[in-house]
Amino acid sequence: MQRILIDTDPGVDDALALLLALKSPELKIEAITTVSGNVHVEQATQNLLRILGLLDLSEFPMIAQGEAQPLVKLLVMAEHVHGEDGLGNISELSNHDGCPRYPLADCNISTISGVDLILELVNRYPNELVIVALGPLTNISRAIQKDPECMQQLQSIVLMGGVFREYGNVTTTAEFNVFVDPHAAHEVFSSGIPIHTVPLDVTHQVVLTGKRLNAETEEYDDRLSNFLRESTQTCMEFYRENVGFYGLHIHDALPIGILTHPHLFESVNAYVQVETEGNLTSGMTVADLRGVHSISKPNAQICLKVNADSFLKLFFQRILN
Ligand code: RIB
Ligand code: CA
Repeated sequence: MQRILIDTDPGVDDALALLLALKSPELKIEAITTVSGNVHVEQATQNLLRILGLLDLSEFPMIAQGEAQPLVKLLVMAEHVHGEDGLGNISELSNHDGCPRYPLADCNISTISGVDLILELVNRYPNELVIVALGPLTNISRAIQKDPECMQQLQSIVLMGGVFREYGNVTTTAEFNVFVDPHAAHEVFSSGIPIHTVPLDVTHQVVLTGKRLNAETEEYDDRLSNFLRESTQTCMEFYRENVGFYGLHIHDALPIGILTHPHLFESVNAYVQVETEGNLTSGMTVADLRGVHSISKPNAQICLKVNADSFLKLFFQRILN
C-alpha cells in the first residue's frame, strides 16, 4: 500500500480525484492539506470537509489548512470555472427539510499548519511518503524552504501541473497550478526531489462529457451520485461556452491513476524549468522534448500519454462502488 499526502485546492476536479483516492485500496491517505488556488484556502478547507462528508468513512486522514497566498505573486483564483464556492455552488443547496444537501464531515482540522503537517509526515515516513499535489505548489515549496533536508526524505512528488506541447489554460503559455505560483513550482522542480508531473498534454486526453456522466450515474440516486451530477454542472457550462463541449477534463484524477494503475500511462524523463519573470510567459513550463540528449540532467518524469478509455472505465468503477 502506498502512503500518500494529498495537497489540494478543491475545486471540482480535485473533488473527483479525492473521491477516487479514497476509494483506491492501493493508497493509504495519511493526510490531506489545503492550499489557495481554485478558491481561497479557507473555502478549500470547507470544501474538503464537504467532500469527506459524501462517504461513510469510519476514520479520516489528518487534515491541515495550508498557505493562503503564493510565494510572490498576488493570488489568482478560478471561481469562474469551479463556481463561487469552488464546488459548483452545491454548498448552498438544502433538502426539503432545510438541512444541507451536502453536509460537512464531522472530523477535526489539525491545529498545526499544512506546511508543518507535511514536514511531520515526511519525518514520520522517511522514503515511504508520496505527495500528490493537485493545486499550486505553495505548501510544498514552503516546506522545502523551512526544512530542505527533511523534504529530501520524500519518496516523490506526483503533481498535476504544467503544459509542454499545447497551449495553457490560463494564458497561452501557462497551466493554472503553475501560473498561480510559478516561484513555488520553480523551487519544487529545482529541489532534487523525484518528480512526476502530469501536464495538460495528458489530462486533455481524458474528457468527461455530461452525456457520459449522466449515462454512468443514471441508475444511482444517492448523495454521491447527486454530488457528481450537481457539482460538475458549473464547470461543464464553462467548458461549453469556452472550450466547445459540455463536459470537463478530470485533470486531478490522473495523478491518482498513475499511482494505482501506472500501466495505463506513459512518461518521459526531461529537464523541466519554470519561467517566473516573463511578462507574457510567467508560469510557463519549459522542457526539451526533442529527444536529443539535453545537456541538462533530467529532473522530472513528464507524463505524456494515457489509455483514456481504460482510465475513465476505472474511474467510474471505483467512484460509484
Ligand atoms: O490546470 C488544471 C489544474 O488547475 C487543476 O488542478 C484544477 O483543479 C486547477 O487547480
Ligand atoms: Ca486542483
